[in-house]
Amino acid sequence: MKIGLFDSGLGGLILTRAIARALPQYDYVYLGDTQRVPYGNRSPETIYEFTRQGVDFLFRKKCRLIIVACNTASAEALRKIQRTHLPHNYPDRRVLGVIIPTVEEVARSGARSVGVLATLGTVNSRVYPKELKKISPRTKVYQEAAPLLVPLIESGGRQWAKPILQSYLKPLLKKRIQTLLLGCTHYPLYKTKIRRWLPKNIRVVSQDEIVPGKLRDYLKRHPEMEHRLSKKSRREFYVTDRTAAMKQLAQKWFGKRIHLKLVQLADTSFT
Ligand code: DGL
Repeated sequence: MKIGLFDSGLGGLILTRAIARALPQYDYVYLGDTQRVPYGNRSPETIYEFTRQGVDFLFRKKCRLIIVACNTASAEALRKIQRTHLPHNYPDRRVLGVIIPTVEEVARSGARSVGVLATLGTVNSRVYPKELKKISPRTKVYQEAAPLLVPLIESGGRQWAKPILQSYLKPLLKKRIQTLLLGCTHYPLYKTKIRRWLPKNIRVVSQDEIVPGKLRDYLKRHPEMEHRLSKKSRREFYVTDRTAAMKQLAQKWFGKRIHLKLVQLADTSFT
């Protein structure tokens, strides 16, 4: 049985690369819903339905454990999948997201004032303030939706990043945040820039630096899961749409030449 990674598009390859580097022995299957990306501006119902279809596809590909790399899908769909879809259909499989590990890390650092930069969907779900409040009730959380960042990153717009990022970060800086949480698959690509621009006393939390270690801990705590995972270092990559530009981006973000297999998410029971 393999580990699945699901994302709305190709951004999840950045986290997948970090996980595969930290835990190279496992077999991974990646699915990016490139036909329907971005999820960030869609309704919660649509995000749930698309994510459920993606998860079902990965289960059919023999994944026992799935990591939802997409923050928007983790925010809007994960809980319902864990509470209703899995118990009824796949009681022995697990789906984990990126929100809780990130929140745990932020809480552990003891920050009292946290800024969250994310997509509109993630910000509107208020998942970060809600989850942080549960484990760190006194922490103040300020959010900023950054709808231009994903298209900017995907179109290689580095030279325009500074003014755009600065305008998103300005309201958070005014709140005197101690920690900035990068709550989107794509943002690790700008973490070095952001760290350079922000005052040194602000900690920047990037999921590619957190989630691999959290996954390792999870597998240690769940030997019944770990023992069932195959360890042949195989990697498979699936997408729902494929263009020359996507192939290039995938290679760049995963850091290696990879073959993207085209699939249709067969389940059409969208209601
Ligand atoms: N993967 C999404 C996220 O992490 C960003 C791209 C999208 O909007 O679908 O929130």
